[in-house]
Amino acid sequence: MKSLKKVELHLHLEGAAPPAFIRGLAREHHTDLSGMFDDQGRYHYRGFNDFLRVYEAATSVVRGPADYARLLSAVLNECGEQGAIYVELFVSPEFCGDADLSAWRDHLGAMEEVAKAYALSGVESRAILTCIRHYGPDRAKKTAICAAETAGGWVAGLGLAGAEDLGEPKDFAWSFDCAREAGLGLTAHAGEWRGPESVRGVLDLGVTRIGHGIRAIEDPALVRDLAEREITLEVCPGSNVALGVVRDWASHPIARLADAGVRVTVSTDDPPFFHTTLSREYDMLADRFGWAETEFRQMNLWAAEAAFCDNETRDRLK
Ligand code: ADE
Ligand code: ZN
Repeated sequence: MKSLKKVELHLHLEGAAPPAFIRGLAREHHTDLSGMFDDQGRYHYRGFNDFLRVYEAATSVVRGPADYARLLSAVLNECGEQGAIYVELFVSPEFCGDADLSAWRDHLGAMEEVAKAYALSGVESRAILTCIRHYGPDRAKKTAICAAETAGGWVAGLGLAGAEDLGEPKDFAWSFDCAREAGLGLTAHAGEWRGPESVRGVLDLGVTRIGHGIRAIEDPALVRDLAEREITLEVCPGSNVALGVVRDWASHPIARLADAGVRVTVSTDDPPFFHTTLSREYDMLADRFGWAETEFRQMNLWAAEAAFCDNETRDRLK
């Protein structure tokens, strides 16, 4: 399904780093990442907490603006290969320590130059600066301030990722209010590791989209609410299967959510960690649920409508 034009709303920049790219940076920075890769050179972890550990260790070798620019270039190149015409990338400054984030203007400036070059070749992108739940609300505030101060160009949103079972959504209300006042789009991971009450918690933060959100299926009233309020779910089925959120593709609730009128879209989350690609996700949806041109077109329209971009860009995606 590579040739189909796609809009991807949920891709972590750090989680999309090719393992060989990370090994190269580890050598340059004299950092030992042994044990993080299997004998085929792929990321190696057991379960979600270990995934977060390996993910953060890999991210620790991506350091200054030049490293981030090279990473973005590698990632957008692969997005283009997958037929993506628009991508929103979660970028988490908090992985660079809890120091003052004012230096992040330089990181973002270097990435924006790369993003502009790829936009000229047909892969448009925006960044969603992303708070890490398990680092707590104080560090999140710094990310929100950084996002608010850089809003308007490449930075288009604020997100919340990390361990869903640590901390309540309301703990991050200050950060989400700050971002909303700056005109940023809002999304948060929920309904991946926790159930419906977690999804309701992020709705109270004022998000228009939810990362994953699939466990809303456990509560029919919530499913109706999501459909009525036109909340868009950034569903990443391959991630859910690889991390064990669902047993297998056949039992994934994406088709049931779509049938209930919820705006579902499809993304890859952290593709090399889950041995997936955007076109593979489409192939699997076609194979397991019989989805074809009509369903994919509808999904990409919803993604375009929910994208955190200006209307002129949005119209080009439809
Ligand atoms: N960060 C990267 N991938 C994630 C996921 N699937 N859930 C929560 N945080 C993440
Ligand atoms: Zn994610």
